[in-house]
Amino acid sequence: MLKINLCGIEFRNPVFLASGIMGETGSALKRIAKGGAGAVTTKSIGLNPNPGHRNPTIVEVYGGFLNAMGLPNPGIDEYLEEIKGVRDELNRMDIRIIGSIYGKDEEEFAEVAKKMEEYVDIIELNISCPHAKGYGATIGQNPDLSYSVCKAVKKAVKVPVFAKLTPNVTDIIEIAQAVVDAGVDGLVAINTVRGMAIDIKAKKPILANKFGGLSGRAIKPIGIKVVWDLYENFDVPIIGVGGIMSGEDAIEYMMAGASAVQIGSGVYYRGYDIFKKVCDEIINFLKEENLTLKEIVGIAHE
Ligand code: SIN
Repeated sequence: MLKINLCGIEFRNPVFLASGIMGETGSALKRIAKGGAGAVTTKSIGLNPNPGHRNPTIVEVYGGFLNAMGLPNPGIDEYLEEIKGVRDELNRMDIRIIGSIYGKDEEEFAEVAKKMEEYVDIIELNISCPHAKGYGATIGQNPDLSYSVCKAVKKAVKVPVFAKLTPNVTDIIEIAQAVVDAGVDGLVAINTVRGMAIDIKAKKPILANKFGGLSGRAIKPIGIKVVWDLYENFDVPIIGVGGIMSGEDAIEYMMAGASAVQIGSGVYYRGYDIFKKVCDEIINFLKEENLTLKEIVGIAHE
C-alpha cells in the first residue's frame, strides 16, 4: 500500500531516514532499516576526514534541537567500507541507500559523487548545511555555485541526483530553478533553519560554533511552505523533511507536494522504529479517507 517509485527506483515505503542522524556507521544504518525505513540517508560525507566543530555541538531547545556538528565524517574512502559492510543486507531487506555528500566546490563534489555512486541508489547533495563555512549553504545560497555543483555531479554519475536545499535564503525558487536547470532529478527540502541559544548564567552562546541549525517540530510549517512552493513551480519529485514526528506530519508534507519524507529528530522522540509507526499511521489515514498514497501527493493544491 505504501510502495513508491522515485526516478525509476522502487521503495518499500516513502518514510526515509534523514541525513545527519544515525548515518555514520553501517550498524546504525542497519538499526534504522530494522525500524521500518524505506531508505536510509548517510551522514554527509566529504573527500577527506573531518573532525567537525568543537563540543558542545548540539543542544535541545523549545521545539527541537540546535546543532552545529560541522560535518564530521571519516572521509569517503573510509566511509565506503561501512557501506560495503551493510549494503547486501540492506538490499536483501529491500531498503534503498541515499548517499549524502558535500564538498568545497564542483570538482570535490564530483569526485566524492563518483566514489559514492557504486554503493548507493541516489546521491543527495548537501548544499544546505547552515554552519560549515565554505561548504553547504555557502554554495546553496548562491544560484551560480548551486548550478555548477549540480551540473558537475550530474555529469559525473549515472544514479539520480537530488539537491538538499536550505531555507535560509530570500528566494528559494531562484535556487531551486538553478539546480533544476543543472539537471537534478529531485529536490530535498528543508535542511535546518539557522538559530542560536545563549546560556544566561555563562552569558555565552551554548554551541561552541555560537550558532547552528534548528531541526524538529518548530520548523515543520517552514518546511511545508517550502515544499508547497517547490511543488507549484517544478515537476521533479520532492522529498519533504523538517519536524516530522507522526503519520499526520508526513501526510501534511505529502499534501503540500512531497512524494516521500525524511525523519531526523523524530528518532530521538519516538525511537528507532518511528519509521514503522509513521507508516502504520499513514496507512490508517488512507484507509479512513479511502485514498491512495498517490492521490494525496499535492492534493492540497487542487
Ligand atoms: C552537520 O553535520 O554539521 C549537520 C549537517 C547539515 O546541517 O547539513
